[in-house]
Amino acid sequence: MGDFSGKAVLVTGAARGQGRSHAVRFAAAGADVAMLDICGPVDEHVPYPPATPDDLAETTELVTKQGGRAVARQADVRSFDQVKAVVDEALAAFGHIDVVVANAGVYTCDWGWEIPESAWNATIDTNLKGVWNTIRATVPAMISAGNGGAIIITSAENAIRGHPLISHYAAAKMGQVGLMKTLATELAPYSIRVNTVNPLAVNTPMATGAAAATIIETLMRLRPGSDEPGWVEPDDVSDMVLYLASPEAEGITGIQVPVEPKTAADSPA
Ligand SMILES: NC(=O)c1ccc[n+]([C@@H]2O[C@H](COP(=O)([O-])OP(=O)(O)OC[C@H]3O[C@@H](n4cnc5c(N)ncnc54)[C@H](O)[C@@H]3O)[C@@H](O)[C@H]2O)c1
Repeated sequence: MGDFSGKAVLVTGAARGQGRSHAVRFAAAGADVAMLDICGPVDEHVPYPPATPDDLAETTELVTKQGGRAVARQADVRSFDQVKAVVDEALAAFGHIDVVVANAGVYTCDWGWEIPESAWNATIDTNLKGVWNTIRATVPAMISAGNGGAIIITSAENAIRGHPLISHYAAAKMGQVGLMKTLATELAPYSIRVNTVNPLAVNTPMATGAAAATIIETLMRLRPGSDEPGWVEPDDVSDMVLYLASPEAEGITGIQVPVEPKTAADSPA
């Protein structure tokens, strides 16, 4: 979808899952791709295995196989300095950044009144402050390049409808929507569009473990009549991310776009 030849894209959380898919799809569409990922644990309460340096190396290989240039570094989005260092390296290599995909994210699983403070901080600092860090590290260069551009923030379906056991995650994902709407207004004069994708149940390591199953079971218990969601594949989210980044979406800014399973019948057994 689309031709991103001559464009440069930054993807955070690119070691695996959706971030990997977005990075590879942009490279396949002709873009140069800068990638960063923590490639390690974010907090001791995170209930699924962390990404690794090997994961990021694999994404990098997949990107370069598509013919795109790549910059890939281990960095924590909670640290502005770490994000800025990768952005500066990407600007030195590519000369510009046209598209930002603020995708890195994390969650832990607890009743809202029992969330350990370190889990609260890790979730808010990664999912909300990390997105702000990504934006403030990239936007000044995008404005001065004068080429316009697109920012896509990976929010979540639970910024639209509440799910139990992830109130800190929901607060951050809804916070991202506020950030997106404000920035869409502020950046309109520079032709930089800002939107969120809001997926539900994407088939990645974050969502396929026991904790995610507990969330769904709890949702169905607390909200009788809820259907168990099917799976969205990372590539389905990439379809929407690439569309929002493309000239075809030139009139679209300041909105949240749900990406949900097509039908329950499409979900794996
Ligand atoms: N999987 C789902 O069902 C689902 C649904 C809605 C939204 N999301 C969101 O999609 C995004 C991508 O998640 P995913 O499903 O691919 O999961 P994932 O765990 O496979 O990928 C997330 C990536 O982000 C990286 N990351 C986490 N914290 C980081 C930090 N502080 N600094 C840098 N990198 C960090 C991880 O190392 C990992 O590689 C996240 O923002 C997530 O909240 C996921």
